[in-house]
Amino acid sequence: MVYLNGNFIQKNKAYISVMDRGFLFGDGVYEIFPIYNKYILGLDSHLNRLQDGLDSINIKNPHTKGEWISLINKIISFNKGSDNQAIYLQVSRGCDEDRNHTHGDLKPTVYIQSTGLNSRSKEILLKGGSAISRVDIRWSQCNTKATSLLANIMYAQEAKENDAEEAILCRDGVITEGSNSNVFIVKNNCIYTHPKGPLILPGITREIIIDCANHCGIDLKEVAFDKEALMNADEVWISSSTREVFPITNIDDQQINNGQVGPIWSLIYNQYQALKGIKA
Ligand code: PDD
Repeated sequence: MVYLNGNFIQKNKAYISVMDRGFLFGDGVYEIFPIYNKYILGLDSHLNRLQDGLDSINIKNPHTKGEWISLINKIISFNKGSDNQAIYLQVSRGCDEDRNHTHGDLKPTVYIQSTGLNSRSKEILLKGGSAISRVDIRWSQCNTKATSLLANIMYAQEAKENDAEEAILCRDGVITEGSNSNVFIVKNNCIYTHPKGPLILPGITREIIIDCANHCGIDLKEVAFDKEALMNADEVWISSSTREVFPITNIDDQQINNGQVGPIWSLIYNQYQALKGIKA
């Protein structure tokens, strides 16, 4: 079951107009909420980011927080076959009479769906994963979680074709984030991640990891680092609502930390699992 503009319907019955600006221009924003046994991790932060995204592209939020929570909970209960779910929620500007770059005041299109969220076990994660690096050519409003993701999907596809978990992006010599994740490195027991701003999406998992680091008493600095620092890091991780905190042990066919997953990843991973209500 999915939700589309006021109705809960089967996914294969959910259609939008070809005049929808989400379809024509990618004119909309989205969120992905991770659900663990009906518990929505980072609910308030996701809803705040949704509001920020809507504000940044001048779409009036069609629902109150309470209404969103009720819609999301309904979708969770309709899809309770899987304990853990990823809820995808999209708001586009809506449909116009014709295709014009400019628009009037439209009624936003709201779509919500659920897919199974299969977190990998610690045993599997300890094998690490690889990444490729690419030049970040995206626009400079990456803090808006926009549905127009052309560059991101091209990078992700390239990563997939190289049997890599992610493409790590580098703009003007600085590592920004991944095609669909934030990036962290560890050097001399200190964690580094790119500061918030227009060059990265302010990931909710990134915020949770910052909280985990504080909780564990590990230094964390939100400062930019370059490609050399990435390649010479003691540990590299990526994070997202669907991948949690994932260790990268190989970039562009070069090993990181001799291909070993590091001890700080393990501490953060355990703390993250605790927040999900699952003992690692
Ligand atoms: N992507 N950076 C980018 C470019 C992203 O697309 C994502 C998430 C993140 C991590 O954000 P969060 O921790 O809030 O999930 C960072 C989602 C999962 C996606 O597009 O599928």
